[in-house]
Amino acid sequence: MKKALVIGGSNGIGLGVCAALCRRGFEVTIFDKEAPRQELLPAPCAYEACDLRFLSEEQFAPWAEDPALELLFISAGFGRVADFEDHHPAEIRAMMEVNASAPLRLLRVFYPRLLGQERFYCGIMGSIAGLLSSPMAAVYAASKAAVCRFAESVNIELEEKGSPNRILNVSPGSFRGSRFYGGENEPALLEGLAEQITESLFAGQTLLIPDYEKTYRGVLERYQADPHGFGLSSYAYKQASGRAQPGKKLVIGYLSGTFDLFHVGHLNLLRRARAQCDYLIVGVHRSGAWKGKETFIPFEDRMAVVGGCRWVDKVVPSCAEDSDAWALWHFDRLFVGSDYQGTERFRRYEAFFRDKGVEIVYFPYTQSTSSTMIRNRIRNSQQKE
Ligand code: CTP
Repeated sequence: MKKALVIGGSNGIGLGVCAALCRRGFEVTIFDKEAPRQELLPAPCAYEACDLRFLSEEQFAPWAEDPALELLFISAGFGRVADFEDHHPAEIRAMMEVNASAPLRLLRVFYPRLLGQERFYCGIMGSIAGLLSSPMAAVYAASKAAVCRFAESVNIELEEKGSPNRILNVSPGSFRGSRFYGGENEPALLEGLAEQITESLFAGQTLLIPDYEKTYRGVLERYQADPHGFGLSSYAYKQASGRAQPGKKLVIGYLSGTFDLFHVGHLNLLRRARAQCDYLIVGVHRSGAWKGKETFIPFEDRMAVVGGCRWVDKVVPSCAEDSDAWALWHFDRLFVGSDYQGTERFRRYEAFFRDKGVEIVYFPYTQSTSSTMIRNRIRNSQQKE
């Protein structure tokens, strides 16, 4: 059976495209950071977890080699109508990563298929915002402009290399039926657009701007005739429309530890924590004395090792208590290994954080290792010598 991948297919237009592909006899696999709601899931559709903030090319390499795979559609992305100063650096990084950098890296994995003579259908969500100036959505527009210019440029390379394949840039303005603007998934409202996208894919088109003749031809012409005037009126329009979503909060995560003899249990904890927040702050204890334990690696070195880990955004000296650290960092989630669940300390924290909107997340303790286990193993081997 012919197969298709839809990246970001659990919601909105991605989900609509999945349904359209299923109707055309494709077996679709959805990659998304959240699972699709079962009742909305068209058949035959499978789901695999994938967060584009942390794309791993290896996850997709076997798919790129599967000759039954005929189609890739990348729909994942997010945006926000807000002034630039309202964007936290972590949000800028995530938006550029999810909307632009990861999709390009993904397309690189499948590029040999695009270069080949066999038909390989490929599409990506751009946006009308990527084709003109978009004040109050500057970061989103920058990420989508990257996608639009990329598709336009690489399609020329494909043509020059004699490939029959092209990348379809789907660049809509606002549309109804997706959760993008805060509403709910309404597949019925998206069916027409999803059909248009699939038809354009199979026709080998390079650009689809839905509602072009009715609306966006005029919009683009106004922009091209006077980009500055267009930008000013666009800003005024967005101000007046009440669509601004200022101060939308990121999820700030915090955890603390000694991190002596850094091991995979530490790494698992940091990775899981980062997957559940947008910005991870890690407090490092000066020593293990508070647990009655000796530390072998100096404090500054432990700070450097933890700070060098890709899952950590900021490393700080820990406070005596995680509840004291909250006054400094105002985190939304506190992460810890399950070995602390039910301890006097964490019962106290649960009471302390109850009215502060802070969620305590316990992750499974990695049983195979700990700093104490490593310390004991070294001691035992020294005694034997
Ligand atoms: N952690 C974990 N799995 C492990 C070890 C630690 O999930 N195998 C978690 C702890 O629950 C804690 C964090 O890592 O939230 C930092 O703990 P730390 O005190 O540095 O780790 P340990 O290796 O447990 O240290 P020690 O053996 O010295 O107590």
